[in-house]
Amino acid sequence: MNNARQNALEYARQNNERFLDELKEFLAIPSISTSPEKNADVQRGAEWVAGQLRSLGMDNVQIMPTGGHPVVYGEQLKAGKDAPTVLIYGHYDVQPVDPLDLWTSDPFKGEVRGDNLYARGSSDMKGQVIASFKAVESVVRTSGLPVNVKWLIEGEEEIGSLNLGEFIKKNKALLKADFCINPDAGLINKDSPTITYGLRGLAYFEIRVYGPDRDLHSGLFGGTVHNPAQALTELVAGMHDKKGRITLPGFYDNVRKSSKAERAEIARLPTTAKHFLKQTNVPALWGEPDYTPEERVSIRPTLEVNGLLSGFTGEGSKTVLPAWAMAKISCRLVPDQEPEEIHKKMVKYMKKHAPKTIRWEVKNLHNSGTAITERDSVGVEAMSKGLEQSWGKRPLFKREGGSIGVVVQLQKYAGVESVLTGFGLPEDNAHSPNEKLHLPTWRKGIDAFVHFFYNMGEL
Ligand code: BES
Ligand code: MN
Repeated sequence: MNNARQNALEYARQNNERFLDELKEFLAIPSISTSPEKNADVQRGAEWVAGQLRSLGMDNVQIMPTGGHPVVYGEQLKAGKDAPTVLIYGHYDVQPVDPLDLWTSDPFKGEVRGDNLYARGSSDMKGQVIASFKAVESVVRTSGLPVNVKWLIEGEEEIGSLNLGEFIKKNKALLKADFCINPDAGLINKDSPTITYGLRGLAYFEIRVYGPDRDLHSGLFGGTVHNPAQALTELVAGMHDKKGRITLPGFYDNVRKSSKAERAEIARLPTTAKHFLKQTNVPALWGEPDYTPEERVSIRPTLEVNGLLSGFTGEGSKTVLPAWAMAKISCRLVPDQEPEEIHKKMVKYMKKHAPKTIRWEVKNLHNSGTAITERDSVGVEAMSKGLEQSWGKRPLFKREGGSIGVVVQLQKYAGVESVLTGFGLPEDNAHSPNEKLHLPTWRKGIDAFVHFFYNMGEL
């Protein structure tokens, strides 16, 4: 191994405690993008990121406004015109923390217990943002970057990157790069570094059902007024058939079939039924019988109830017939389904099945496109090699069930392909109470990033 690479890895090792302290500082900012009352904290998150980029010696660091939360941009183009330019993506926003009482420690005070750091955003994805920052710091402070870098760190990923598409369209020239490194995906398990080459899309709905003009006495009116909670749950229950297939009219019309070869490759992944049972502690798995569990979370679309609300849910009892009911429902989509089309199909379903006894509305809260990314490229090669150098094992290739809006936005609006990897584990409780980051994996991730830069320099 050459000296520059060795020195950078050594720098990362020696400074790891400080890296961890800075990560805790970042985690202490409750940058929850979906909650308007947290807007000032989201802004603080952007400022903290900008401060980091400046301290890494990046140039042209800017907090750039969008229609929503700002984007942080920075660059270092010292490697010159002939060297490749790598765009590095991250998001500084996080998901809400509720239910708070299920957290063992304060979600915004990073606490290390054993090998893990517990805090909201530790795994998704402030830990990975810091991993990319600190890998660059390790390279910059010991030798210098062999490639040009640009940073795109957004604050709306967890709400569907609502304004990022527009931002990318407008700033296409600024964001021009050979490819984008996106460490917002995860690994299959701690011993299996992973490159993700597909993401599902998302269409997110809020459905409201209205009945009487106020909550009613259930004794006086029950039996003669259709209960909105019942009407809504009947509608929701009808969205799947007995085989777990989605019943929205034409829902599967544009689902791209996977080849035999792809399905055979998926079958070789270590994510067997046992894996899903162990990860979730459910008594049995559920879903379309013609597909394996791993296929059902990657190459197949789904419809999930994310939340239900109606009537009296406090302690004790209250005999009431609620005036309204609400469901948050989202569909994970696969190529070539379009979120806007799915919205139309949801409305069609409601028109067809909603009873005359209630009024209803469907709001489309946000959408995210599906993506398949290139598997043979310089970027994939340099990152695969970096993962192998750090883990001592070649990475696995998989399609992911989650969604990351920016990947398709970069493809569509700037012609930039993404290389997706990450250092978060399925058991990290992303979006759940007690989110955590597995620190040994995080350190391997920093090393993999360091290797990636030198691999790029050598290719
Ligand atoms: N990092 C996740 C997506 C992810 C998780 C990719 C695991 C690969 C492996 C991302 O932050 C996320 O949670 N995205 C949201 C986007 C949505 C709100 C549009 C998601 O998938 O729910
Ligand atoms: Mn997330």
